[in-house]
Amino acid sequence: MEKLISIPYSPRPQQEELHNQLSKYRFGVCVMHRRGGKSTFGVNHLVKLALTTDRDNFRGAMFAPTRVQIKLISWDMIKQYTRVIPGMKYNETELRADFPNGSRIQLFGAENPDSARGQFFDYVFCDEYAQMDERMFPEIIRPAIADRKGGVCFIGTPNGMDAFYDLYEKAKVDPEWFTVTWKVSETKLVDDHELDQMRKLMTPDQYEQEMECSWMANRSGAIFAKFVQEIEEKKHITRIPYDPGYPVDCYFDLGISDKCCIIFIQQIGRSFNIIDCYQNNNEGLDHYAQVIRERDYFYRNFIFPHDIETREMSTGKSRKEYAYSLGLRPVKVCPKLPKEDQIHAAQLFLSKCWFDSDNSKPLLDSLKWYHRKYLDKQRTYSKPVHDWSSHFCDSFMTAAVATQEMDLNDSRPKQFSADNNYNPLGA
Ligand SMILES: Nc1ncnc2c1ncn2[C@@H]1O[C@H](COP(=O)(O)OP(=O)(O)O)[C@@H](O)[C@H]1O
Ligand SMILES: [Mg+2]
Repeated sequence: MEKLISIPYSPRPQQEELHNQLSKYRFGVCVMHRRGGKSTFGVNHLVKLALTTDRDNFRGAMFAPTRVQIKLISWDMIKQYTRVIPGMKYNETELRADFPNGSRIQLFGAENPDSARGQFFDYVFCDEYAQMDERMFPEIIRPAIADRKGGVCFIGTPNGMDAFYDLYEKAKVDPEWFTVTWKVSETKLVDDHELDQMRKLMTPDQYEQEMECSWMANRSGAIFAKFVQEIEEKKHITRIPYDPGYPVDCYFDLGISDKCCIIFIQQIGRSFNIIDCYQNNNEGLDHYAQVIRERDYFYRNFIFPHDIETREMSTGKSRKEYAYSLGLRPVKVCPKLPKEDQIHAAQLFLSKCWFDSDNSKPLLDSLKWYHRKYLDKQRTYSKPVHDWSSHFCDSFMTAAVATQEMDLNDSRPKQFSADNNYNPLGA
């Protein structure tokens, strides 16, 4: 005789939607605020799969950053929701729940990835992926689902532009992946009193990150991220095609063995459209001149940072002369300002910029990432960290300073001295 057993879980509308959506996709990334019910949802999704699967010996797994964490949060939950099922067996040391139909759900702490090596899984949840080692998915989980073509869902709250962010960004454009972001202002799952309490404990940036799912707000030491987010909210990051009615200015950052990059900007009235950017390394200036020619834009200025004046050791020619000889004309040199003034200029400049979301993505990523390190001992922030993001940021700062300090419209050669003998006093 069949007996109906009801699990003591009734999904909230958001959870219900996730259960439905995830059954249509092999992979999912669910970004959600704290206390949104992510862990509860994850556990119950696994329970649902374990009970309704048509696979033999279904294997479900859940990973959290640490074993202590997963035991505290999810182990009790699993037992609470499955206790009503007759014949359930729980192994406390292995954090393993065995179902009477042969299905199994096991919990793992990601600080000890080896404990999960050599297993196979039909479905895996990664809870708070932002706090896990970024090799977790490619090295441990992905191989473990290969045999049975298992699925994976990542759930978590943003924690800066880390591996979870990269994963989410890649997933957004991949049709095999389901993605969703739920902010507390949208879900209304936490009551106002509770939110007020949280606001009191958190800085505005922390609140933006934890409750409004901002990837950038709380990057401690971030230099441009907040400003990029502001223009993103104003919808300044969209498709911005080249407008043949306006000229293009090219802004460079120069390195020899290091990276070198170019930003292509059209000034339209008081706005600046960043239509394109390019980056490469270990190439001479002739390579970049070629890239510029191939773009076939209508160019106005080629603006270099002050270091173009340095002499090129091998040829004896300055880079400026070399650029000129390659047809990059007119070459203009941006005045040198102290770094902090350049940063300030770029922060102001950002509000006047519109970015092409595709062509200028590498530049946008660099702007979001560029940051200072917190120096614990001195309790201050360092100078901007020199890393992959510095090159585009340097050329962006060149653009900001140049548009502020130079007359870019002026294509006439400057008159350097008066050349007549007229004496205005008539003496
Ligand atoms: N469907 C539900 N029904 C009742 N309570 C729920 C439900 N989903 C979540 N909760 C409760 O909401 C709180 C937060 O859930 P949790 O899954 O820990 O959130 P998160 O992992 O997003 O921080 C917990 O107290 C949990 O018991
Ligand atoms: Mg949780």
